[in-house]
Amino acid sequence: MIDVQHVSKRYGGYLAVEDVSFHVPQGQILGFLGPNGAGKTTTMRMITGYMPPSSGTVTIAGYDIFSQSLQARRHIGYLPETVPLYTDMTVRSYLDFQGTIHGLKDPHKRGRVNTVIERMRLDEYADTYIGKLSKGYRQRVGIGQAIIHEPDVLVLDEPTIGIDPIQVVETRQLIKELGQDHTIILSTHILPEVSMVCQRVVIINEGQIVAADTADSLSAKLGGPERVRLLVRGPAREVAGAVRDLPGVQTVEHEATGTEGVDRFLVACRMGRDLRPQLAAVITQHKWDLLELQAIGMSLEDIFLRLTTSEELPANA
Ligand SMILES: Nc1ncnc2c1ncn2[C@@H]1O[C@H](COP(=O)(O)OP(=O)(O)OP(=O)(O)O)[C@@H](O)[C@H]1O
Ligand SMILES: [Mg+2]
Repeated sequence: MIDVQHVSKRYGGYLAVEDVSFHVPQGQILGFLGPNGAGKTTTMRMITGYMPPSSGTVTIAGYDIFSQSLQARRHIGYLPETVPLYTDMTVRSYLDFQGTIHGLKDPHKRGRVNTVIERMRLDEYADTYIGKLSKGYRQRVGIGQAIIHEPDVLVLDEPTIGIDPIQVVETRQLIKELGQDHTIILSTHILPEVSMVCQRVVIINEGQIVAADTADSLSAKLGGPERVRLLVRGPAREVAGAVRDLPGVQTVEHEATGTEGVDRFLVACRMGRDLRPQLAAVITQHKWDLLELQAIGMSLEDIFLRLTTSEELPANA
């Protein structure tokens, strides 16, 4: 449905996106995951035809986004990074206006506006000025304008950014519902969001794809706590040695706590390994006191580091 082939984008001398290729089959929700500046927005602008790639091609439903842009664009709904919402229009009049832009005519247009209001659960706010809506509801209007012309492909650029946690949950639910009858690509810099909403994930960093996988398999690979913090009363050197000898442990960093005989250890585990039970066991076997054991999630930066350097790690697991 969405086919991206060897797409690159150069801003002046700066290569923002480099040789990116992926395919999204009909009916799939693909997560496009990457940190700030990775090239997500740039790629999405090229997919939606808002900006030409420096090289490479994009086809939507078989239509080339540039040489057959009218046909291709008819299939696409786009939620840009910043939606140009008109704050002095009501939700209903704005959606009606967007319908007109897409060439819809009454009474079909009126019907579509009502359907979108219902589907985005905006009924209560249909006649409210957009300027008075909370950020989460504005985002729903943004998604609403993207689906007004019944496109089968949706491109959503960070649809949950900057909205409160409750609305994040609801927005994710809405996107999942849209996934039942749309092919979707959404960008995010939140790893758990991908596993909650998407079936597949493409990870981009510094303009290049560093991983492409199913969301399940990626969560399994990255699912362990990866880093565990221990607070132990015992002989620091021996504790560190015993922990380091556990299969699956990569590094052990030790730091003093200021309390005599009590030390903190930061244990990095091999990708996907949950070593908390083994760590607890080894401490208690030696009759040291385990005062704290805490799993620390990986940051997105850690993940990129792992994904890009995992081949070179020692095979001690
Ligand atoms: N119009 C532009 N001119 C020059 N450089 C740009 C332009 N737009 C983006 N860039 C640069 O290209 C790189 C990729 O930017 P892009 O906005 O695509 O990243 P992103 O993954 O969407 O980031 P974010 O998570 O912050 O939205 C960044 O280094 C950015 O500074
Ligand atoms: Mg962006």
